[in-house]
Amino acid sequence: MAPREDHPSGDSRFEMVDRTLKKFQYQQDALIEVLHTAQEAFGYLDKDLLIYVAQQLGLPHSWVFGVATFYHFFSLEPQGEHSCNVCMGTACYVKRAAEIVTGLRRHFGIEPGETTEDGQLSLATARCLGSCGLAPVVVIDGEVIGKEEPEETIHRLVKLLEGEPMEGDGETREEVTA
Ligand code: FES
Repeated sequence: MAPREDHPSGDSRFEMVDRTLKKFQYQQDALIEVLHTAQEAFGYLDKDLLIYVAQQLGLPHSWVFGVATFYHFFSLEPQGEHSCNVCMGTACYVKRAAEIVTGLRRHFGIEPGETTEDGQLSLATARCLGSCGLAPVVVIDGEVIGKEEPEETIHRLVKLLEGEPMEGDGETREEVTA
């Protein structure tokens, strides 16, 4: 099937999914890998995302929904109101990604895979998000932030949970080209 160029919502996170699709040349047996990337980028697999993956791979929607619901490591529901996903791939790891996770664990009292008791923040870790040149990479509420510092991630999230929009430095965000 010819890959679709348009994204359902113009969301830059679809570019991560697209990279995996291209890496596996849109082969249908790459479904699990593509779903992993999709979940890492979005935090969970919603209906539109599953439909997008199904269309890109030329698979029936029902098949993709079936696979996503069969495996326990896929989540079809959003978690906390806000999400922070820290890339722990090799390039990010050597650039102190583990320190980012440690800082977040200590500050917010949650482990990766958990949500704060007030339902405000979910913390996750991911394998390579495909933006190694920006390592270390953190995705906060779907926004890809590169060259991140441990203290800076905490600061961003504290402000976010206080209701302030995220501060942007304009230089380390991944551009949206959808
Ligand atoms: S290792 Fe983090 S983006 Fe590649």
